[in-house]
Amino acid sequence: MQQIKINGALHSVDADPQMPLLWVMRDILGLTGTKFGCGIGACGACTVLMDEQAVRSCITPLSVTAGHEIVTIEGLSSDGTHPVQRAWRANNVPQCGYCQPGQIMQAVALLKELPKPTEQQITDAMSGNICRCGTYVRIRASIKSVAETF
Ligand code: FES
Ligand code: FES
Repeated sequence: MQQIKINGALHSVDADPQMPLLWVMRDILGLTGTKFGCGIGACGACTVLMDEQAVRSCITPLSVTAGHEIVTIEGLSSDGTHPVQRAWRANNVPQCGYCQPGQIMQAVALLKELPKPTEQQITDAMSGNICRCGTYVRIRASIKSVAETF
């Protein structure tokens, strides 16, 4: 058994310590908001926060999470009103939506670290999050609109 703290709740999980956090969340804890894309840390679909830093949950073993706080898209707000979620809605960012939980979590991590990121800092932070629908312009606009409120 390993304890894992996700979205403020402590869970006891009976799983292989090497199981990817993504599988623990989706298959054991029922937190399916975080998506599987590539499984090799190359697309960003599975991004969650660990101690407020963006991590790829598909390549993060359960054992690594011990003593850390994980936040998923479900934990950002109870009603979808986190400022980044509001900005995503205002800018109609999603197309198919599949990549968007990861995009949002990556953006949240960026804005926590850099409340007023430069264009280059946005590029650097977001370049590992792939959107096959090409919503990049709206993602950038949304991040900038949140930054303007700080
Ligand atoms: S599914 Fe984790 S980075 Fe692609
Ligand atoms: S909105 Fe479809 S993959 Fe990004």
